Amino acid sequence: MNNVGNLSTVKEVEKIVKIRASEEDWNFHILLVVKYALLLAKNYKIDKKQVELAALLHDIGRLPYSDKKDKTHHIRGVKEATKILRRLKYPENKIKEIQKVIICHRGSGSVKPKTVLEKIIANADAMSHFDTLPLFYYWRGKRGESFAEITKWVEEKLDRNIKKKITLSQAQKMVREKYLLNKRILENLKKVKNF
Ligand SMILES: [Fe+2]
Ligand SMILES: [Fe+2]
Repeated sequence: MNNVGNLSTVKEVEKIVKIRASEEDWNFHILLVVKYALLLAKNYKIDKKQVELAALLHDIGRLPYSDKKDKTHHIRGVKEATKILRRLKYPENKIKEIQKVIICHRGSGSVKPKTVLEKIIANADAMSHFDTLPLFYYWRGKRGESFAEITKWVEEKLDRNIKKKITLSQAQKMVREKYLLNKRILENLKKVKNF
């Protein structure tokens, strides 16, 4: 049966992504992106199921967690998301929208978010990073990076997020305080030990 656009498409995709993601990735990234995307979407007349699907699938190309040098998960993500959504008989025009979201979600590539949906997901993706400072140390530490390396990386990432990726004014308002708090923690760390 074709379950186009109904709740079961979201539920099916949720199940697939949850299985592929690590527990931390699911709880502290994917679900946060879904939460922030739906919050931002309240301001727009936009299909909420589409927002949820795009948020769930935006990082599908790097699940399970991929190599740190991997800068192509958006390309793989398009293929994976397309496979999953076609299997669920999701409409082609809606799949195309999600493909575009995935392609530009990283913000650092040449393709920038243009549509409301693309902007919502790119903003929500960046917003999630302000809630999870300790997780970056856990993740990157597991991959053998030093404390100093991770601190530098996180600081640059948060700066990049606030200056380039968070383009919606509501998103800026929502993260401003957290950004300053994160910055203070990082500054203090650097004072304790001059990296
Ligand atoms: Fe990503
Ligand atoms: Fe992400």
